[in-house]
Amino acid sequence: MVAPTGPIPRPGILDLAPYVGGESKIAGVERPIRLASNESALGPSPKAMAAYMALASDIHRYPEGSAEVMRQAIGERHRLDPTRIVCGAGSDELIALLLRSYAGPGDEVLYSRHGFLMYPIGALSVGATPVAAPERALTADVDALLARVGPRTRMVFIANPNNPTGTYLGAEQLARLHAGVPPSVVLAIDAAYAEFVNRNDYEAGAALVDRADNVVMLRTFSKIYALAGLRLGWAYCPPAIADVLNRVRGPFNVSTPALAAGLAALDDTAALARARAHNDHWQPWFSDQLAALGLPLTPSVGNFVLPRFADEPGSDAEAAFAFLRSRGILTRKMGGYGLPQHLRITIGTGKEMEKVTATLGEFMGTR
Ligand SMILES: Cc1ncc(COP(=O)(O)O)c(C=O)c1O
Repeated sequence: MVAPTGPIPRPGILDLAPYVGGESKIAGVERPIRLASNESALGPSPKAMAAYMALASDIHRYPEGSAEVMRQAIGERHRLDPTRIVCGAGSDELIALLLRSYAGPGDEVLYSRHGFLMYPIGALSVGATPVAAPERALTADVDALLARVGPRTRMVFIANPNNPTGTYLGAEQLARLHAGVPPSVVLAIDAAYAEFVNRNDYEAGAALVDRADNVVMLRTFSKIYALAGLRLGWAYCPPAIADVLNRVRGPFNVSTPALAAGLAALDDTAALARARAHNDHWQPWFSDQLAALGLPLTPSVGNFVLPRFADEPGSDAEAAFAFLRSRGILTRKMGGYGLPQHLRITIGTGKEMEKVTATLGEFMGTR
């Protein structure tokens, strides 16, 4: 074998399988129904779009690097201390910055088996070792996670609710997880879908952040606020962790359009209520339709569901994916998450959900 002559990345980087996002195009289909990336069904708030447009003549200016106005607004809305909020280019950036700051070669990063893939990918990218704890009924298992906390554990990531399973841990379970994690280990609670959850025992994580020095809550404008294309997320942190993130982040890591649109979106509580009401109606509706078609699914509290298909070739998730795709409907295959019998389907508009239901009915009827 010829030795490579060019630069060689750090150990582990070339072992990384890059994150593969959901498909957005189908050749020959002008407007596919896009249910592959958990984007909001209703699109952005008109006020956010107007704020974005109004900025066009100013984009030669650097953004205000501390995102102060945005942090103040988030602080007011969520009753949080703005000095402990750090904004990022999506919560993905904040996940990466946390990993870069707190984990490295020889360290372990713990997550639950079917947790969001950016945790193991991000861990590998800093040379750390991702450790997956098994789940119970596609739900994070606090005991299994705690059993895997060891001397090398530096971080624990939990998506709550979790993508792609849609399941969640109640506040008590989350507190139990935190109680078992040593104070030197960062517990990152990723609440990307928090606004969709309508369960009394759910808490997005801020209360735990307030009680501890090692808990971070991550939030995003990509999901219910429908600004995924702009890249805006935020972390609520203990002061020392906010200080660390502010040291490692780029000075202008959040763009001016993202800040302006985010601010307007946060202010548009009517749009937020519409998006929530839409999901409250269509997610259970679609879940019931899937159950009626004989497709088992775990109850989801997010804006997506995860039906399980049969094992036989021709009736399996692969065949369902291809059938839907042939009808212009994009869903997400779950092999990368260790769930090859499942498809993840985002809640779209009412018309889209009726179409995907009818198409799945056709698929199931012909098997
Ligand atoms: C659990 C979870 N965390 C974080 C993200 C990343 O979101 P953002 O667009 O803010 O980077 C996603 C997006 O799919 C997600 O599902």
